[in-house]
Amino acid sequence: MLHSRFRFTLALSLFATCLAADSPNYQWPSPQYDTLEALLYEGRRGDGSNLASIQHPCRNRPDSNASIGGEWLRFAFHDMSTHDIDDGSGGLDGSLVYELDRPANFGNAFTRSVSDFEVYPNKYISRSDVIAVAAVFSVASCGGPIIPFRGGRIDAWQAGRMGTPEPQEDIATHTNIFKRAGFNAQEMIKMVACGHTMGSVRSSDFPAMVPPGPNPAVDRFINFDSTPEFDNLVVTEYLDGTTQNPLVIDANKTMVSDLRIFSMDSNDTMRSIASPDAFATECQNILERMINVVPHGVSLTQEITLLPAKVHDVQLTFERNKFVFKSSLRLLQPLDKKLNKDRKVTILWCDRYGDAQNCKGTTRTSIPSTTLQEDPDLSPMTKRQGYNFVNYNFIVPVDASLSISKFWFEVDEKDGKPATVYNNGGDGYVMDQDQLLFVPTLSRADARAITRRGGFSGSNDTFTKTYTIVAAVRDGSNPSRVYAEAHDFAIHKFPAPFNTTIDLKPNSSIPAMQGYSFYSASLDDEGFQLTLDIHSVGSDGKTYTEDFRQTAFLDNTPYYPPTAVTNTAKSPSPSWRLIDGWLTIRRSICGSLVAGLLLRTLL
Ligand code: HEM
Ligand SMILES: *[C@@H]1O[C@H](CO)[C@@H](O)[C@H](O)[C@H]1NC(C)=O
Ligand SMILES: *[C@@H]1O[C@H](CO)[C@@H](O)[C@H](O)[C@H]1NC(C)=O
Ligand SMILES: *[C@@H]1O[C@H](CO)[C@@H](O)[C@H](O)[C@H]1NC(C)=O
Ligand SMILES: *[C@@H]1O[C@H](CO)[C@@H](O)[C@H](O)[C@H]1NC(C)=O
Ligand SMILES: *[C@@H]1O[C@H](CO)[C@@H](O)[C@H](O)[C@H]1NC(C)=O
Ligand SMILES: *[C@@H]1O[C@H](CO)[C@@H](O)[C@H](O)[C@H]1NC(C)=O
Repeated sequence: MLHSRFRFTLALSLFATCLAADSPNYQWPSPQYDTLEALLYEGRRGDGSNLASIQHPCRNRPDSNASIGGEWLRFAFHDMSTHDIDDGSGGLDGSLVYELDRPANFGNAFTRSVSDFEVYPNKYISRSDVIAVAAVFSVASCGGPIIPFRGGRIDAWQAGRMGTPEPQEDIATHTNIFKRAGFNAQEMIKMVACGHTMGSVRSSDFPAMVPPGPNPAVDRFINFDSTPEFDNLVVTEYLDGTTQNPLVIDANKTMVSDLRIFSMDSNDTMRSIASPDAFATECQNILERMINVVPHGVSLTQEITLLPAKVHDVQLTFERNKFVFKSSLRLLQPLDKKLNKDRKVTILWCDRYGDAQNCKGTTRTSIPSTTLQEDPDLSPMTKRQGYNFVNYNFIVPVDASLSISKFWFEVDEKDGKPATVYNNGGDGYVMDQDQLLFVPTLSRADARAITRRGGFSGSNDTFTKTYTIVAAVRDGSNPSRVYAEAHDFAIHKFPAPFNTTIDLKPNSSIPAMQGYSFYSASLDDEGFQLTLDIHSVGSDGKTYTEDFRQTAFLDNTPYYPPTAVTNTAKSPSPSWRLIDGWLTIRRSICGSLVAGLLLRTLL
């Protein structure tokens, strides 16, 4: 029995590995997938601010014994807990940030989590996705299961219904709250046990259960079980009578909600999740369901899996009067292996215009301007899979009259085997347009004013910045309009998203160069993550777009000069066929391996 479950798990994990290696469901560019993938597996957003590193590895708040992971997991539960399956309202929708004055949501655990999450939402990642990612991080970071993550939650911008459970309520009330949210009694027992393996009850919130120490300003904590990790001890210590969980053993029997819940079926469910394996499997399942409770009408994305090779930060632009193409290739580096210093990574591309356009003839190549191996603690999700990242960053000069139509990469390990080609599943990475370009190095962000707004512990200050946005427009496209949609969802206290449209006008103080002239506009924003969708409506009636451009690096990007270019007559086709053949073979090997294992499991 155990044996066959093991094989089943093995089959499933092999299946997942095969999917990730081929990424048949992924094509660059997929902006929402790319953005969610970066937050989940790199822990961070575009400017490098790292959400995972606030908590990872399984840390407490620097100034207290509060478990950050415990606070984050509880936050997700409280946000979800008001869902009603009948009318479809509530669920993980971020409404909790407007509900912090309610008794069930009281205390600095919640306000600190809100501050942790504040800077991460953007056009592609909702505040409720950030809350779900934080729950997934906290479990993975503290040694629990990897909870599969999907994005696409939609935020509420006001408080939702009441009805988050509190310990003094009776078992019928709790059963009804979970039933309303779509979970039966057994599932309630599991979800509570899977939550109450991390974190504690604290004196500032429940002084009758956790008596304050001599200095009431210093919080005291009693953990639910004897370790801070995500483990089955919450169950075994309960069953063997050694538990110190205040919600089980408190003298005031009104408050022992965990005892009422855990024992409601004669401890059957608790016994069924007592082993480390059963606890991990059941918690993975119930917590995945918990974070996927969303209001009706919201559909979540496919599962966001780790991309084995990721192309990111692609930009055609001007830097110091040079027309440059920038891009990065992120590869996985197994933690138990040394980075291959002999590895040669090359970018290859074809002209957009001229005799050799669209890969008819000359291919140009260049090498990375910088190579960066990342810290393994960037995100618990990647570390737990045994990897960190190595980034190969390219900045190449491009002749603007030839421009660039598509690019791809070759990775030669110099081990006698043929180089691996990364070409977006065969098509290459296609540059969809060069008529409108964002120019970060000519754009600016100036801190302008400080607004005071009452709120969280710590600073109440909000900085308004004035942004000057510069775009380059290719001569001949004669746009009837150049404009930017500016978004910021990361605003202190989440009053409402910033969402505005401004027109960019020709700016003759920036001299035209290499067939481009410059447009600009300015705007004010008090949020933390302004992003721009810049559009030009061309004379051909087509709209060209620079989507989701980050502003965090305006002015302060370290400058790296472009690297040298080699021109070769090599046609890309033969090696593309090679990699396609290899992928097809690999896919069928994976397929039959999985099928074989599943078959044996079923027999
Ligand atoms: C009837 C249901 C539940 C009740 C009455 C309840 C009650 C409580 C109470 C009283 C605390 C202590 C809070 C404090 O001292 O500030 C707590 C903490 C916690 N709860 Fe629950 N809970 C319930 C269900 C859940 C569920 C389903 C989860 C998640 C899956 C969860 C996750 C947590 C976590 C992680 C903590 C620790 C927070 C920290 O360390 O800051 N709870 N819960
Ligand atoms: C954390 O708890 C330990 C043991 O109770 C205590 O000695 C220590 O002072 C606490 N740390 C903080 C920062 O409160
Ligand atoms: C037990 O807790 C309840 C709910 O907080 C409270 O109303 C009651 O006074 C407490 N009983 C005792 C004996 O402290
Ligand atoms: C369930 O477990 C608790 C804690 O060990 C114990 O006090 C209780 O008697 C058990 N209930 C049943 C019906 O076995
Ligand atoms: C922030 O505002 C709150 C409420 O208006 C106030 O109680 C608190 O003292 C302020 N904090 C700081 C650091 O100014
Ligand atoms: C910005 O506002 C416009 C007009 O209200 C709306 O159509 C659009 O969806 C909003 N954009 C975002 C990203 O929320
Ligand atoms: C034109 O560009 C310059 C240089 O970036 C900038 O300082 C100026 O504010 C821009 N003018 C307008 C009207 O946007």
